[in-house]
Amino acid sequence: MRIEPAVSIVGHVAVPGDKSVSHRAVLLGAIAEGDTQVRGFGRAGDTQASIDAVRALGIQVDDLADDELVVHGGALRSGAVDCANAGTLMRLLMGIVAGREGRFELTGDESLSARPMERVAGPLRRMGARIETTDGHAPLVVDGAALQAIDYELPVASAQVKSAILLAGLTADGETTVVEPVPTRDHTELMLEAGGATITRRPSAVSVRASTLRLGEVEVPGDFSSAAPLLVAAALIPGSDLTVHDLGLNPRRTGLLGVLERMGVRVSIFNRRRAGREPVGDVQVQHAELAATELDADEVPSLVDELPLVALLAAHAHGETIVRGAKELRVKESDRIEAVTDLLRAAGAHVRSREDGWAVTGVPTRLRGGRVDARGDHRIAMLGAVVGLASREGVDVRGADSVAISFPGFYDVLDSLVRR
Ligand code: S3P
Repeated sequence: MRIEPAVSIVGHVAVPGDKSVSHRAVLLGAIAEGDTQVRGFGRAGDTQASIDAVRALGIQVDDLADDELVVHGGALRSGAVDCANAGTLMRLLMGIVAGREGRFELTGDESLSARPMERVAGPLRRMGARIETTDGHAPLVVDGAALQAIDYELPVASAQVKSAILLAGLTADGETTVVEPVPTRDHTELMLEAGGATITRRPSAVSVRASTLRLGEVEVPGDFSSAAPLLVAAALIPGSDLTVHDLGLNPRRTGLLGVLERMGVRVSIFNRRRAGREPVGDVQVQHAELAATELDADEVPSLVDELPLVALLAAHAHGETIVRGAKELRVKESDRIEAVTDLLRAAGAHVRSREDGWAVTGVPTRLRGGRVDARGDHRIAMLGAVVGLASREGVDVRGADSVAISFPGFYDVLDSLVRR
């Protein structure tokens, strides 16, 4: 896809429902008692895979509208599940089925089959789960077994791993505790609380006991990670002024706002409210001259999916930006450290990969542009589009349609905001 330069990014917009919360609404709805009404569902490739997954395991899901569902909770039955590109689906489902009767075969696409699954299978086996992976990867088979609670300290800061263990804890004998080195997104904990689970939260640990859930309703906030490319485009391009409405503002997701402010961008938040237990509000970003910054491991989980965009901000900032402690990016939908370095370099930026992030020497002017490759990764495709908007000559993005994994309407929304 060809992306032409934008003069500015101006307007008001809303984005589809949060992908992390949408996955959880379907998966937890499937094991809850009674019906769960999901409003503001973010329909996209990944979240559709979750709907298809629970259907494959015998759960009825009614599509009332693109963004509205009813999940009829019940007992899961044995089956084969294609998790497609969705890491959240595969990992959370492993935890959900580990302690339930049946045999569950989980497969994924080529990218998902290259991602590490032993980080989930290992602790679940310690609980008594019977899981066979293919050299630590999908395809994998889970044979439901009786589980015992464990105390587990996460070796990597991962909400997916934490969630898988907590969901297994719902069917285990005793109290399961997960300790996290750095806080990661807590959508699972918030939804378990809302569903009436026996859950105890401390600053760096969370415990659950065997519980039944009753969710009733889930309101999904706008996806901060889908808004992020739009907000970053507005921050980068002179004359821009953008407001995104009804956006999820869970503090464990919004690290990008702090980075934008540190770099000199004006960020304003209005109409703070809650959607269920999730904080929501409207976010306004206005362009400013950018200053370099530094990021390390403590901050990474709060903006893990936005780090490619931080590298782009850094390419336009005065000075050198260093991103450290982000080694996890190497095992996302692509190796995002190399994908970002290659993409930004192809457009004329001065970026060097580190083992755990990047060093970026910023030049406060538009990048040249050029031909870039999304590597089948939705976040990299969106990065490519923002690079094009903020460039002098525009960008050709190879594999641009992979945005449909999380945000199918991305290019239409962009078009509605771009002044040329
Ligand atoms: C997610 C957690 C993060 C994130 C992913 C969604 C979730 O992954 O990158 O896009 O919904 O729990 P990790 O848990 O692997 O860090």
